[in-house]
Formats: sequence, C-alpha cells, structure tokens
Amino acid sequence: MLAVLGLLTSFLFFLYVTAPSIRKFFAGGVCRTNMQLPGKVVVITGANTGIGKETARELARRGARVYIACRDVLKGESAASEIRADTKNSQVLVRKLDLSDTKSIRAFAEGFLTEEKQLHILINNAGVMLCPYSKTADGFETHLGVNHLGHFLLTHLLLEQLKASAPARVVNLSSVVHHAGKIRFHDLQGEKHYNRGFAYCHSKLANVLFTRELAKRLQGTGVTTYAVHPGIVQSELVRHSFLLCLLWRLFSRFLKTAREGAQTSLHCALAEGLEPLSGKYFSDCKRAWVSPRARNNKTAERLWNVSCELLGIQWE
Ligand SMILES: *[C@@H]1O[C@H](CO)[C@@H](O)[C@H](O)[C@H]1NC(C)=O
Ligand SMILES: *[C@@H]1O[C@H](CO)[C@@H](O)[C@H](O)[C@H]1NC(C)=O
Ligand SMILES: *[C@@H]1O[C@H](CO)[C@@H](O)[C@H](O)[C@H]1NC(C)=O
Repeated sequence: MLAVLGLLTSFLFFLYVTAPSIRKFFAGGVCRTNMQLPGKVVVITGANTGIGKETARELARRGARVYIACRDVLKGESAASEIRADTKNSQVLVRKLDLSDTKSIRAFAEGFLTEEKQLHILINNAGVMLCPYSKTADGFETHLGVNHLGHFLLTHLLLEQLKASAPARVVNLSSVVHHAGKIRFHDLQGEKHYNRGFAYCHSKLANVLFTRELAKRLQGTGVTTYAVHPGIVQSELVRHSFLLCLLWRLFSRFLKTAREGAQTSLHCALAEGLEPLSGKYFSDCKRAWVSPRARNNKTAERLWNVSCELLGIQWE
C-alpha cells in the first residue's frame, strides 16, 4: 500500500518537474514566417494582456504600427510601453474600445478611420469567459455581446478600410470549445436558460460560423479571414471563475504560455499563401477540424441576418 503511494507520489513529482518540456513538445505550432511589416497597420482588440499582448509584441517587432484597442486604457498603456521598450518600435498606440457597448465601438472606429487611411490586419482577440449572467449596454447577453456581436460590428465598421488596403486579413479568436456550442435562436440572449460555461461555447461557435460567412462575402476582395483556437493558455480569461483560477494556477505548468498561444494568430495573420484557406479554422498553426454545427451554412447565414438586425446595421 505504502509502496504504491510512494510510487504514485514520485510519478506525480516526475510529471510536475518535466511538465514544461512535455508541454513544449506538444505545444506544437510555431509561426515560422519571416514576413516583416514596415508600413503596415494592425488593430488588436484586448491586447493589454495574455495572447493579445504577445501577438501585439511580435507584430510590433516586425515593424507594424500596432493599435492596442482595449477597455482599460491604463492597462493598455502599460502593455504598450513595455512592448515599445522591448521592440524599439515607438509605433505602438493605445485606443479605448469597450466591446460591450456599441457606442464605444462606433467611437473607436470613427476615431481610427480619421486617423489612419489603411488597415492591413485586424485581430479580433478580446473575449470574456464564464461571466455571471449580465447584459451589455445594448441589452445583449455578455458573451454573445462581447465575443460575437461586438467584433461583428467592429469588423463591419472597419471593412471598407480593410478592402482598400488589400491584401488584408482578419483573424478571429475562437476556441476548441465551440464543439460544445449551439446557436439557440429561440433564446439568443439566454433569458430562458443560462449557463455561463455554455454561453462561452455558444459565442465561440458564433465566431467560427461568422468567419465562414464573412469569407464567403469577401471572396474576390483580397481580404481573407481565419478563425483560431489558441490552445489552452495561461490567461486572465478565467478570472470570473474562482475554481478555474485555482485549477489554472495548479496546472499552469501544463498550459501553454501566452507566447505559445499567440503562434496560431500570428500564423494566420502572416503566413504566405494562406489565402485559399480563407474562412477556415486553425489550431497549432494548422487547419483543424470544426464541429458539424460550425459547418452549417444555413445557421451561419441566419445568425448573420439576426446579428445585423440586433445591431441595426445593413451588410450589403
Ligand atoms: C469574427 O467574429 C465576429 C464575431 O463573431 C464576426 O462578426 C466577424 O465577422 C468575424 N470576422 C472574421 C474575419 O471571422
Ligand atoms: C457551404 O458553403 C461553402 C462555401 O462557403 C460551400 O463550399 C459548401 O458547399 C456549402 N455547403 C453546403 C451544404 O451548401
Ligand atoms: C438572410 O437575409 C437575406 C436577405 O435579407 C435573405 O435572402 C435570406 O433568406 C436570409 N437567410 C436566412 C437563413 O434567414
């Protein structure tokens, strides 16, 4: 009995010690392109921390002018000054963007469009996860409102600029958990039934569906679009769940670092010759399998229509 316990303990200890190397081995997918970005303009949402920050750092290192669009401008500034110092690129700028408020999204877009004539890469990175039930300023359930509708509107408002700057790319952060998601048209705002875990999955499925539909609509414009699963990453996303925070802390040695998590976004933003795969879903810098629900064109189109209605916009 004692021997078994001893063996188990040493095994666990061994696992714990070797975790970083094991992780590195499986972390898979490194963005290998050397593409440099002088003169290119990039917008990344939620880039004040985690994967977004690491993505911004790498794009700045390659010479792009990088706009960090985030809710907390102070945190954004501290990330930006760190990146500026690290990359010697002074063109890292912070602008206020609160994706849970369409007024803020419109104000951001308006400001950006007057200040910049071009946009080459848009990375829809920001997201919320596991929030207790709440609604955005416009009355949308928070996961759907921020993760999906907020970015939908943002992409819509910046699209002409992207087209005018083609070849341009839009990268959407989704997640493997979209497999558990479902678009519940009869209760999109989760008013009849709400589970914060599933609400996140639903919103991530919406991201995959949108990438497909958008790709279809952008055919021939020179703007291409990709959905990305960054991997299971050490991130602040879990801040709304005490249990997950604890688990994340405990197992952090087994999770990808933010830098490793940024690789697939970078790959989709930069890799040469990716255009024929517009609309597709990537994980570990490779195309990955999406759930059957995420392949349903009808659902994609219907969600597109409903989203336009909810936001009061017309998308040709
Ligand atoms: C990204 O996701 C948002 C929200 O789902 C959607 O509005 C937008 O069209 C998507 N863009 C791309 C390029 O997939
Ligand atoms: C769904 O749309 C894609 C292109 O966006 C197309 O290739 C595919 O054939 C469509 N599937 C169905 C079942 O219509
Ligand atoms: C979406 O809207 C378009 C144009 O209004 C319409 O032709 C199409 O049938 C709608 N699709 C779905 C699935 O509701």
